Order: sequence, then structure tokens, then C-alpha cells
Amino acid sequence: MASCRPALGGEAVRLTLDRIGHAFLGRAVFEDLSLCLAEGEVVALVGPSGCGKTTVLQIASGLIDPLRGRVQRHYRRQAIVFQEPRLLPWMTARDNIAYGLAVAGVPLGRRRESAERRAAEVGLHRRDLDKYPAELSGGMRQRAAVARALAIDPEMIYFDEPFTAVDVGLRRVLQDLVIGASAREKFSALFVTHDLSEAVRLAHRIVVLSGRQEGLVAERVLDGAPGSRDDGAVFETVQDWAKDPAFADLFDGGREAA
Ligand SMILES: Nc1ncnc2c1ncn2[C@@H]1O[C@H](COP(=O)(O)OP(=O)(O)OP(=O)(O)O)[C@@H](O)[C@H]1O
Ligand SMILES: [Mg+2]
Repeated sequence: MASCRPALGGEAVRLTLDRIGHAFLGRAVFEDLSLCLAEGEVVALVGPSGCGKTTVLQIASGLIDPLRGRVQRHYRRQAIVFQEPRLLPWMTARDNIAYGLAVAGVPLGRRRESAERRAAEVGLHRRDLDKYPAELSGGMRQRAAVARALAIDPEMIYFDEPFTAVDVGLRRVLQDLVIGASAREKFSALFVTHDLSEAVRLAHRIVVLSGRQEGLVAERVLDGAPGSRDDGAVFETVQDWAKDPAFADLFDGGREAA
């Protein structure tokens, strides 16, 4: 199934995956997977554990090369937010958030100012910015990871199940941060999750990766803007899709033995 219909209409294409296929040690993960993301579009990639979501994200972001197919990136700056925060333990929260700016050669004063603004946006207090990662709570670390991604003003952000390890209340807060930031700053995002409610809350469009090496097996465009859907609407959508064969793998507890 090709999935090159950006949901927003009219915007520039930021990312194209054209018939990509990948295998590890001779074992196919997926074949013939095509996907485009438009400027400002948030696409959620869902699928059962082990189906290849992280592999798609790593190929899209250039961390690994696909065995087959072509990737085209029409953007300059990208950030990746992983499931674990991956902060540098010897740097304060402030310097972690500013890290990408330091690498880009932004002067100290400007990068500190930018780090503090981003920290405030994700709900980190100024007094926490002098702390080292070991002195922060898990939720604060993940907030810092999101702030670090936003700090470089990326045109594309890849999220790999970033909020799976945080508790339900904070997860909502962090989802809202992503929804607000993407509406404000118009970055595109490929958001990997196996939580369909999360996908329905924050994406413009959802694509489903098969648990049986079949590539993308379904696509749904969501009504309205992310953030405009109330809890009732999200719940109803997820309930409806639970009956839909396209989402069966997600609700059946995952992949069949290959
Ligand atoms: N570096 C690697 N070497 C060998 N096999 C790998 C490697 N990375 C992933 N795989 C295999 O590729 C398949 C897809 O893995 P991937 O991590 O992309 O799945 P996923 O959908 O992200 O799973 P999860 O939801 O559990 O994070 C799995 O069978 C996995 O064992
Ligand atoms: Mg994964």
C-alpha cells in the first residue's frame, strides 16, 4: 500500500519513503513501504511490537540505510526523541537542552537563552536547569529531551515511543506539548507509538505497519486538527477501529511467529 497523500493539502513534501524494504541478517522486516509527510503534518506510525516501526524511523532519519528503495528528505534540521531521554550525564539540563545549538556553533549567551525558553515551554523550572540528569525525575528528563529537540528549530522531528515510560497523567501533558508545538512551529513529525489513543490524539494521519512483513496495511486521516479532539471523540474512534480488521494486529497482542 502506498501512503503518499499528505492530509493537510497543498503543503510542501518534507519526507518521501519510496518503496523501501529492509531485512536484518536475511530476515525481512518489511517490503515496498511508501510514505510521504507534508510540511506541518504529524503522522503516527502504529503497529505491534517487533513489526519494524523503529526500523522505519531509523531509515527515515538516516540512522540506517534501507536495503531497497529511496529516501528523500526535503528539510535541513531534524531531531529525534527516543523512548529513553538519552541525556548526557555530565552536562546540566540547561547544557543538554542547548547541546544541538552548541554543535551548530551558536554562541553561549544565545544558546542559554534559547535553552531556557524551551525549558519553560516544556514545563521545566529555571531552578532545575542547573541539575544533572541523575538529579531529575524521569518525567523531567523526558521534558528535557523534548526541549532539546525543539531547541534546534527542527523542520522534522522523529519520535520513537517517547512517552511510553512516563505515567498516564504526564503522558497527556507531554502529548499536549507536542500538539501545541507542532501547531505553532509547523514542524513535521513521524510519531511511532503502539498506543492508538495517543496516535488519535496527536496526529493528522495514522498509518499501520503490518506485523507480517506486509508493509503499511492501512491509513486513516483524522478529522480536525490534533488538539481539537476531546476525550470522548478519541475513545469512540479507538473503539470503532478496534473492530476494524486493519487494526487487528494491534488489539490481538501482536505479531504471529514468522
Ligand atoms: N540491529 C538489528 N539487528 C538484527 N535485527 C534487528 C535489529 N534491529 C531490529 N531488528 C529486528 O527487526 C525487527 C523489527 O524491529 P524494530 O525494532 O524495528 O520493531 P518495532 O516495531 O520498533 O518494535 P517495538 O514496538 O518493540 O519497539 C525485529 O524482529 C527485530 O528483532
Ligand atoms: Mg521500536
